Amino acid sequence: MTRRAVVTATGRYLPEREVPNSWFSDELGLETSDAWIQSRTGVQTRRFVDREAGEATASMATEAARRCLASAGLTGADVDGILVATVTPDHFFPSTACLVQDALGAKGAYGWDTSAACSGFLFTLAQAAAMVRSGMARRLLVIGADTMSSIIDFEDRATCVIFGDGAGCFLVEGSDEPADGELLDFVMHTDGAGGDSLKMVAGGSRHPTTAQTVAANLHVVHQDGRTVFKHAVGRMGDVVTELLERNGLSSDDVKLAIPHQANLRIIQSIAKRQGWSMDRIAVTIDRWANTTAATLPTTLDWAVEEGRLERGDLVVFATFGAGFTWGAALMRW
Ligand code: ACO
Repeated sequence: MTRRAVVTATGRYLPEREVPNSWFSDELGLETSDAWIQSRTGVQTRRFVDREAGEATASMATEAARRCLASAGLTGADVDGILVATVTPDHFFPSTACLVQDALGAKGAYGWDTSAACSGFLFTLAQAAAMVRSGMARRLLVIGADTMSSIIDFEDRATCVIFGDGAGCFLVEGSDEPADGELLDFVMHTDGAGGDSLKMVAGGSRHPTTAQTVAANLHVVHQDGRTVFKHAVGRMGDVVTELLERNGLSSDDVKLAIPHQANLRIIQSIAKRQGWSMDRIAVTIDRWANTTAATLPTTLDWAVEEGRLERGDLVVFATFGAGFTWGAALMRW
């Protein structure tokens, strides 16, 4: 008997605090404009955590998980494990997954964090699917959560305007029968030679935190935007084609594509290459910007709420991020 991995519920949390493009010029005094940001990235507004109110990655992840579990009529006590994708954990350790496990009261659950930047959710979903298919796990929470506002350089106008904060969650369960929400296939790639183009240098074992590393501004995101843009367009486009070809599908078979939301121009180029009209692409970059690991689960959760999917529709996810890491996934909703 073939055991299948099925997404049975989803949930998301976006912070209340909304930050429009005008904030960067009006409040921070950056030489930028709403017109530049919208035309070059597609972002209109984003959400940032309220740190004074105690919000950070684990609190957002916990709320997304609570909403996901509630929609399935379950509690934390019902899950075997909690896998969190993030590059902005509350701390190096304990992991964000441990904080979420405690907050949910998920007494019987194990958990850990994975780090693959914007590809983190897709890679972790693949890991969860394999665990469920093998029978190792019965029911897992897979969470993508990032507080990008905690690591961006608010003086680097080309980088700080594209990011936002948020968290999304899928409940992944095993099924012995064909079922709606089945995770059908994953393609994943890594090219560490691209590491220099998008990185946060300090705070790890190579450059432990010192007054000097802080003074040198090494604890923030550094991105060579043009290089990352070029690789994102080519590699996300290639990996979607690879996924479709190996499943004997054409672009027309896909009802909805959910690409990583780093730049609307990247999304449009993927759509053009596959011959998808924009009504077959889920776009949330306008209101939430690039929430890194949270992007794919929050966008799917939103698309479902909007009635963009019917049971049985084929969905393709595509992602590209720091590492470089990239991949695509196929799901039957
Ligand atoms: N406002 C006004 N002008 C700006 C701004 C701004 N916010 N930012 C840059 N500019 C200027 C630059 O200074 C430059 O001016 P110059 O020509 O006088 O030198 C000009 O605009 C063009 O700059 P570029 O950096 O080439 O701008 P680009 O059009 O490439 O946009 C961006 C920058 C948005 C970062 C784009 O390169 C991009 O989206 N890159 C990919 C991001 C991505 O996919 N990241 C991966 C996922 S993130 C993760 O994994 C964590």
